Amino acid sequence: MKSYYITTPIYYPSSNLHIGHTYCTVMADAMARFKRLAGFDVMFLTGTDEHGQKIQRLAEAAGVTPQAYVDGIVANIIKLWGTMEISYDDFIRTTEPRHQLRVQEIFKRIYEAGDIYKGTYEGWYCTPCESYWTDKQLVDGNCPDCGRPVERMQEEAYFFRLSEYADKLLALYEDDPGFLEPESRRNEMTAFIKSGLEDLNISRSSFDWGIPVPLEEGQVIYVWLDALSNYITALGYPVIEGGVPGDTPDAGLAKYEKYWPADVHLVGKEIVRFHSVIWPALLMSAGIPLPKQVRGHGWLLLDGGKISKSKGNVVDPVLLIERYGVDALKYFLLREYTFGQDGLYTNETMINRINGDLANDLGNLLSRTCGMTEKYFGGHVTKPAQGEEKLDACLAELAVQVAAKVETHMETFGFNHALAEIWTLVSASNKYIDETQPWALAKDEARRARLEAVLYTLLESLRIISVLICPFMHHSTEEMRRQIGVSGEADWADASVWGKESVYDTSKGASLFPRLDVAAELAYLESLGE
Ligand code: MSP
Repeated sequence: MKSYYITTPIYYPSSNLHIGHTYCTVMADAMARFKRLAGFDVMFLTGTDEHGQKIQRLAEAAGVTPQAYVDGIVANIIKLWGTMEISYDDFIRTTEPRHQLRVQEIFKRIYEAGDIYKGTYEGWYCTPCESYWTDKQLVDGNCPDCGRPVERMQEEAYFFRLSEYADKLLALYEDDPGFLEPESRRNEMTAFIKSGLEDLNISRSSFDWGIPVPLEEGQVIYVWLDALSNYITALGYPVIEGGVPGDTPDAGLAKYEKYWPADVHLVGKEIVRFHSVIWPALLMSAGIPLPKQVRGHGWLLLDGGKISKSKGNVVDPVLLIERYGVDALKYFLLREYTFGQDGLYTNETMINRINGDLANDLGNLLSRTCGMTEKYFGGHVTKPAQGEEKLDACLAELAVQVAAKVETHMETFGFNHALAEIWTLVSASNKYIDETQPWALAKDEARRARLEAVLYTLLESLRIISVLICPFMHHSTEEMRRQIGVSGEADWADASVWGKESVYDTSKGASLFPRLDVAAELAYLESLGE
């Protein structure tokens, strides 16, 4: 069985997550489900990035320990992914011993490779904020966070010889352009590297909420070295002599050998640099194979700005799910935005997507088909014996071609294009109802066989749609299959087979997506922001 390893960034548990964070995780989830359906042995990793000065400060302000602070938020994040039915296989927290011990080991390996040296870090220090800033980051010569004066300070720190890796990184992009997608990000990073790479300060001594540097007390490992390593520590790499508390005793390197190198690290555009410059350089130094791909997505914007915790313009995914359901939210995020580009979030686009594509197009197709099957045949339809008519053959031909088109779009994370392809079949099926006019056929007893063939054609199309939408909206898959009367789990291979079922026994249920009153919903969503 071929393996497939996909990761999301590990999120900072500084405050609860918003819809922007769910965007990346929903894409990773859809891809993981798609690959599983296509027969891959999938490892889907997510988690939380819990160390660093920011978290330490937030905890101090809240009057709790950093661990207690993150524990509360991580519990909410796990609950959110549960509500959204994110199908991750492992959730790694950087405060877990299985991660911490391995990060120290990775640090030692890079040190032993001669790529870590002790030096002096110099910068502009803001004492109240306990932060270093570079010349460029200062605002009018003052701290960009609090606006107070800064002073020139220096301290001892460990550095990673990142500058030594510039040529190797450029060669990597050149030899394997697929390593960093989309191309626009690759060009950006190429220019960034060409403008000169400086060695990287990889330890801090001004705060202590981090993984201790193994060589010396009083220093903690830079949070990005700590965080990036999660992609391999979660696989049990490197092996820790004597084992790790809480780890399965015989876990060994089985997972690492099965899943590493990762097929893709899915990340937001602002952290592409960490993943495509720092991470491969660290891996090269430690002698570990590189991930196959880093793929950078755009941001969801709200009123022109990035949705962000610090700006406070947050859209709460939990409230949206409570009102519209998990499938509707996932569909909207995957259908509305183009991978790699920024997209504007508005309540209106979301309501219109749910109403138009889901309630009107898909929901109606299911309820009309099941309704007519029940009305005209008591819910029981058999496969027609005689040959198909032209309209049926056209729909069948279109239906069996969709899966291959979806596969092509999924190769480039083109979720919106994949869903648009599936909706060509939904629309064609609705059009087929208008063209065949089953209600007219029902009036003529002599056309009963034709009527049955029409309904069978529609049910076959719905069965194929139920498989095609499964990676994106698995609840709807299950409900559609229950209503049309198909047993067993969806199997991707069945999406390309026409005429698979010999009978259908339908049982009409509640509408898949109830139609929304746009004005009322907009007023409701507006009221949430007040
Ligand atoms: N902890 C680091 C990642 C370490 S990975 C080894 C981090 N965390 S984060 O919580 O700030 O962001 C996590 C991800 O969420 C990033 O990929 C970021 O791009 C994404 N998003 C945060 N806000 C977003 C939007 N408004 N829209 C889309 N994605 C957004 O960075």
